Amino acid sequence: MSAIQNLKPPIGLMALSFQTPSSRFPALGSGELHLWKASLSVTPHQQERLFATLNNEERDRADRFVIHLVRDRFIVARAALRDILGKYLGRPASEVHFAYGEHGKPELADDGSGICFNLSHTRNVAIYGVIRHFRVGVDVECLDRPTYTDRLKLAERFFSASESRTLESLPEDRQDAAFLRCWTRKEAFVKAIGEGLTCPLSEYDVTLTEYDPPALTATRWDPSEAGRWSLLGLKPEPGYIAAIAVEGPPPHLSTWQWHPET
Ligand SMILES: CC(C)(COP(=O)(O)OP(=O)(O)OC[C@H]1O[C@@H](n2cnc3c(N)ncnc32)[C@H](O)[C@@H]1OP(=O)(O)O)[C@@H](O)C(=O)NCCC(=O)NCCS
Repeated sequence: MSAIQNLKPPIGLMALSFQTPSSRFPALGSGELHLWKASLSVTPHQQERLFATLNNEERDRADRFVIHLVRDRFIVARAALRDILGKYLGRPASEVHFAYGEHGKPELADDGSGICFNLSHTRNVAIYGVIRHFRVGVDVECLDRPTYTDRLKLAERFFSASESRTLESLPEDRQDAAFLRCWTRKEAFVKAIGEGLTCPLSEYDVTLTEYDPPALTATRWDPSEAGRWSLLGLKPEPGYIAAIAVEGPPPHLSTWQWHPET
């Protein structure tokens, strides 16, 4: 980090408040990104109703989870996705159809709406990004993930050389947060392009210190690609950090809370 950066005020992550939609579902205009948050804890009755909206493949997938809590959270996260997309499409949740990319990225099948989406869940929180006509990727992580005691080793192994050097140059008490900023930004990008962690994470750079706005700064396979993306760094709720990568110019962001029907 340069001395000049030290003089700049730190750029805080956007701390968001999520509003509950009124009786009218929010319309998704062009250039707008709707970010939805869902709590994955629901009542047993709600869980049953949500399960009923899943298709057979999703029910089989749910049944393969050995840990009940993980199964239940998957069901709610998937059913919330169906409910949200169904409302944009004007269809019941059970009539939303998905197709999957080569590396498993879900998208809407046979659909002329141009709606693109992505989601991420960790523990009890799920975050969904929805936009028209632009690829989008989302990642959310808990700030207290214990694995980051080995952050420098992980960074050396997975991050690019310049990201790893930047992380190492930071005072130790700022490294955990910087690691997670870097990780969520990188993961959001590879989810946006659909490759997930099959994409070598060292092949592109993102910003990670609190003095640099979220950005994709280099894509080594095609230097012009980095300029075609926007990155957002967010605090969806205390204790969590999230990033969104979206193709094109920075979108107009609005934030919404999903609730299951009672
Ligand atoms: C995508 C990936 C990075 C998700 O990592 P994660 O931190 O465990 O999970 P997150 O909560 O952030 O995201 C999970 C969601 O991302 C979406 N997703 C799955 N694969 C995706 C991909 N390739 N690109 C973008 N999004 C993807 C799904 O909606 C998934 O939700 P679900 O599990 O409820 O269906 C990881 O699974 C990956 O690298 N997958 C690609 C490689 C792979 O293993 N492929 C095997 C299946 S073909």
